[in-house]
Amino acid sequence: MSIFEEVHDRLNTRSVKWDMRKVIFQTEDVLPMWVADMDFKAPKEVNEALIKRAEHGIYGYTVVDNEVKDTIVNWMKSRHDWKINRDWLSFSKGVVTSLHMAIQAFTEPKDKVLIQTPVYSPFYKVIDAHDRELVKNPLIKKDNYYTIDFEDFEKKLKSGVKAFILCSPHNPVGRVWKNDELKEMARLCLKYDVIILSDEIHADLVFPSEKHIPIASLSEDIAEQTVTCMAPSKTFNLAGLEASYVITSNKEKQKKLIAEFNKQGHGNGLNTMANTALESAYKYGAPWLDELIAVLEDNKNYVTEKIESHTDLKVIRSEGTYLVWIDCSSLGLGAKELKQFMVQEAKIGLNAGIDYGEEGEQFMRMNIACPKATVEEGVNRIIHAVKNK
Ligand SMILES: Cc1ncc(COP(=O)(O)O)c(C=O)c1O
Repeated sequence: MSIFEEVHDRLNTRSVKWDMRKVIFQTEDVLPMWVADMDFKAPKEVNEALIKRAEHGIYGYTVVDNEVKDTIVNWMKSRHDWKINRDWLSFSKGVVTSLHMAIQAFTEPKDKVLIQTPVYSPFYKVIDAHDRELVKNPLIKKDNYYTIDFEDFEKKLKSGVKAFILCSPHNPVGRVWKNDELKEMARLCLKYDVIILSDEIHADLVFPSEKHIPIASLSEDIAEQTVTCMAPSKTFNLAGLEASYVITSNKEKQKKLIAEFNKQGHGNGLNTMANTALESAYKYGAPWLDELIAVLEDNKNYVTEKIESHTDLKVIRSEGTYLVWIDCSSLGLGAKELKQFMVQEAKIGLNAGIDYGEEGEQFMRMNIACPKATVEEGVNRIIHAVKNK
């Protein structure tokens, strides 16, 4: 049996996805397919490295040394064709933390910050928490697929936007931005001197027909305008270990960012276990990841085919991530009723689309990073509830 078919009991492991159901959905009687972690074990080499490190038994202050940094440099080259230098790296416990720091380092209160909606909800919080002004460039949905409204994008940048938080690949709509799209976004950001904060946490999770292109890899000018946030956490299911890093070739920007980290007492490093997990994942995890991607694509195709042939719901055509964005508008329910319907009738715990912006009001987001048996159960629950509505 493939390791991706094994069903693991995650109850009572302090899992947000499984053990917080009562808090989030007011009932434990839902199959949790929400928050973005996977029901799969991390690569065995990562587990072995962590156990070996734990056996040493001393957990003193830990440095991110060149050996660890080189695993990132090599990963960027081998997976993304991006040649970076060790000294472009800084470290943080999470991408969301880095975005909070970056917004404070590179913009001022009341500055305009642009995002492409519907989008990962903490982007809104990053803007709101520091009293920046939210500017939306809503994505265009056509034929079950999302694209960028470039006319609106330029109009908004021109209005004095200071920073653009790019989600690449995009959560929740599953787009893996093409070369032309990235080039055009970058060209306009250079034209209007807008800093690009590129959240590329889903970079490694793209289907085989697609290729993730780090926006900063397009040219030196674009790299100088960009701060890229990445992590092995989505890729290898390590979110609880809190390892992430920021890449920028721009020395001045890096200095400002690290100053912000220090000012807020976050430092610029990784904890002992994060260090070990990141290094071993990037050194040994590639075969595991290739296998995972095939499983995710199969799950996505299954969900799409099943849901669309048995209901009028539409599954948005995606190119990456393990998050599936489902258009539930045919049910004719408002955001609150839709949420209630999924919990009470379908008994499934999904993320409500409204949390990604008003454009998501009639959508739900489903996490398909779980064994096929779980995906089948989730899909059957939805179909059954929709048929009985
Ligand atoms: C686009 C995006 N950015 C960031 C994160 C979370 O990153 P972290 O846990 O490193 O803060 C997620 C998690 O789902 C995400 O989808």
